Amino acid sequence: MASVIIVGTQWGDEGKGKIVDLLTAYADVIVRFQGGNNAGHTIMFDGHKFILHLIPSGIFHESKKCLIGNGVVIDPSVLLQEIDNLTSKGVSVEPGKLLISERAHLIMPYHKAIDLAREAKAGKTKIGTTGRGIGPCYEDKIGRRGIKIGDILDQDLFRAKLSETLEEKNFYLEKYLSAEALSFEEIFESYLRMGERLAPYVTNVAVELEKARKQGARILFEGAQGTQLDIDHGTYPFVTSSNTVAGGACHGAGVGPTTIDEVMGICKAYTTRVGGGPFPTELSDDIGLHLRERGGEYGSTTGRPRRCGWLDGVILKEAVRLNGLSSLTITKLDVLSGLDPLKVCVAYEYEGERLDNIPGNIKVFSNLKPIYEELPGWQEDISAIKRLEDLPENCKNYLKFIEEFTGVPVNIVSVGPSRNQTIVLRNPFES
Ligand code: GDP
Ligand code: IMO
Ligand code: MG
Repeated sequence: MASVIIVGTQWGDEGKGKIVDLLTAYADVIVRFQGGNNAGHTIMFDGHKFILHLIPSGIFHESKKCLIGNGVVIDPSVLLQEIDNLTSKGVSVEPGKLLISERAHLIMPYHKAIDLAREAKAGKTKIGTTGRGIGPCYEDKIGRRGIKIGDILDQDLFRAKLSETLEEKNFYLEKYLSAEALSFEEIFESYLRMGERLAPYVTNVAVELEKARKQGARILFEGAQGTQLDIDHGTYPFVTSSNTVAGGACHGAGVGPTTIDEVMGICKAYTTRVGGGPFPTELSDDIGLHLRERGGEYGSTTGRPRRCGWLDGVILKEAVRLNGLSSLTITKLDVLSGLDPLKVCVAYEYEGERLDNIPGNIKVFSNLKPIYEELPGWQEDISAIKRLEDLPENCKNYLKFIEEFTGVPVNIVSVGPSRNQTIVLRNPFES
């Protein structure tokens, strides 16, 4: 397979970063195509731990190209910090190894200020965003008043765009959100300086991808967030502001759908969610605590405790359909050791009626009762197991249940955070 998309099947934090890093060994080019530094992708190998927010998780492998596509929204100060931090730890992030689309939109200081002030004003009804300015930046992109990274490389164009936009933003910040207005000069100067540093990385990523494809390169598309956070298909309005489903890889990187060979869905063996919004299988008991503590379920970006619950098969089936999944990777299976029985939600109940699909009405989705199937658990520590056949019988049955319920084969099983704690049944680049 030459082009593989990796997406999250749940509400994010499924372990996408770990799997992208693992598969980078077999790929040539790794591309982020949506989201921004709301993402936090954790990579662990040889005792090192890195959390990446913008740079693709392939960066730790020498001689692989990492691309940031047009669909990503970039906070340049965060990107530069990430580049400096990796460089100081001996990881090469040279121009040529990292390439950034000239068409990617920039997160501006007013986007962050608006995100934070809106959430504060909303009080109880807030979304629980990461506060990184993601929503307001995508709003401006769609509203045709966004500033692209290519724009700050042209001083006159940038001056004109910023002065036009900032007047409106400051009015909104001051008069509606009771927040402070921002200084034109400060933003202009700092973004110009950051633009100068980023200029050598900026290029046409879609053209680079076409060149790579013509040379037979294997391309790995790294999704951020998860299917239920998709702006169109997720639990709206408790979602992020981009298309997180596999289709997003095409418009967010600039490739056509016929170039894609495989779509891999990453699925945590249970479910987590950060921020607000409905979560039918959420557990607020000792089992929920077990999952949070054993799974280290604290946000990689904001440090917030993640809400935890049983695996939700209904949202998994939804992910199969919306992404056209060809395979499933099950992560964090080790965290379930010691829980018996295990439960998997196979449908919902609403006012006495059985629902096999997610209802479009958020009020209905917020008041569902999960219908569970129980499966026997296992006690053994599985975190050092290297072969599927060595997993406890009940653990293998749990995987089989997921395969049969979703109709999608499991290709990788992850039993710990490190690269070497992985059982690869089928490598998408070797088949
Ligand atoms: P991402 O956003 O999808 O890349 O996932 P995050 O990095 O935000 O969260 C996944 C967390 O689980 C990270 O702390 C990983 O190091 C960790 N992790 C990944 N796979 C496994 C696994 O199989 N077992 C355990 N115990 N931890 C894992
Ligand atoms: P990765 O890539 C989990 C959630 C936020 C909030 C909602 C909207 O690490 O899986 P935003 O700041 O995007 O406007 O917030 O989306 N969210 C994530 N949750 N993992 C992520 O990314 C997330 N990115 C955003 O918590 O509920
Ligand atoms: Mg994460």
